[in-house]
Amino acid sequence: MAEVVFKDVAKRYGDVSVIEGLNLDIRDHEFMVLVGPSGCGKSTALRMIAGLEEISGGTVSIGDRVVNEVAPKDRDIAMVFQSYALYPHMTIRENLEFGLKIRKTPKAEMDRLVNEAAEMLGITQLLDRKPKQLSGGQRQRVAVGRAITRKPAVFLFDEPLSNLDAKLRVQMRAEISKLQNRLKTTTVYVTHDQVEAMTMGHRIAIMKDGKLQQVGTPLEVYEQPSNLFVAAFIGTPPMNFVKATIADGGATLKGPAFSLPVAQSYRALTAGKDGKALVVGIRAENLSDGSRPVRGESARIPVTVEIAEPLGHEVLVYARASGDDLIVAKVDPHHAPAIDQKLELVVELEALHLFDAATERRLTA
Ligand SMILES: Nc1ncnc2c1ncn2[C@@H]1O[C@H](COP(=O)(O)OP(=O)(O)OP(=O)(O)O)[C@@H](O)[C@H]1O
Ligand SMILES: [Mg+2]
Repeated sequence: MAEVVFKDVAKRYGDVSVIEGLNLDIRDHEFMVLVGPSGCGKSTALRMIAGLEEISGGTVSIGDRVVNEVAPKDRDIAMVFQSYALYPHMTIRENLEFGLKIRKTPKAEMDRLVNEAAEMLGITQLLDRKPKQLSGGQRQRVAVGRAITRKPAVFLFDEPLSNLDAKLRVQMRAEISKLQNRLKTTTVYVTHDQVEAMTMGHRIAIMKDGKLQQVGTPLEVYEQPSNLFVAAFIGTPPMNFVKATIADGGATLKGPAFSLPVAQSYRALTAGKDGKALVVGIRAENLSDGSRPVRGESARIPVTVEIAEPLGHEVLVYARASGDDLIVAKVDPHHAPAIDQKLELVVELEALHLFDAATERRLTA
């Protein structure tokens, strides 16, 4: 077991900088998810832990050892890739044994480790088959099994579920979480899927353009996104954003289509900042048609409904407030409004997110 620490880490390919000033502490036993859009540097960061990419600046440590110059095989890590990378001509058992044989593990110990991993993953009955006789989910389980038998200090996963269909992905993500919870092995898991990040990570690190944006528990980044990018990236449907200017000594958020009073608990953020341009974030669940109880202070926005998407447990209502962008609200399924219907959306004012329009950072007092 070990912690993994990035200190001022940079990665450059010639003149191209792909990671800059990365500082991140992954705690012993922690399940850390690196998440962000394609090309943001997640795999590069993971591969630097594994020793598959040279580190251009700063240090990466595993346990209390700086590993910049340590060969991959001596780093005590096991990595699972999106492509399962099983040997097609070997049986599943031989695939699981492969790494152990290279390490000259005694036969009895090897059998024990392989059987234990197979049992944990429910693939014991598949041990004599070849990879092509397995389904995608079963193959991915074997790839995970191969990582487990190594008993590494750190597990590294790079989008291991991307090749699976949606249902299997949900099942496998629960299995991997359960497994990590049981083994307690420090884990770094890369995905571009924010739902996977939210459901699996003890903490999640959100990256954009090679720079870390925020690190926190799923609830922290959901409730307190530190900038507009994180606010837009985390959560479905994506957070609504409306432009507004602070007015009335910090008591009002004045927008082109509507104005909102500032909740008492937010006054410290807006006081004395009249004229400041903001982007106000409103999550769909903090907007309703008034048919469910409202939490805390609220206000009403008159809108016209454009689309209603029934999802069974809720309806997503896309509505427009006089010419401005579409706003999406979550509405009780038994109160789905009609298209072109005019209604007043109730906004929970204490759940608003205020961002500085110039810096895109969350407003602080
Ligand atoms: N050998 C290379 N030379 C130049 N640029 C590279 C090289 N390898 C990767 N990059 C660039 O580094 C950036 C980060 O790549 P990386 O693979 O880490 O992204 P990622 O976040 O894992 O994306 P994805 O979700 O698509 O897998 C990308 O912009 C990529 O084009
Ligand atoms: Mg990648």
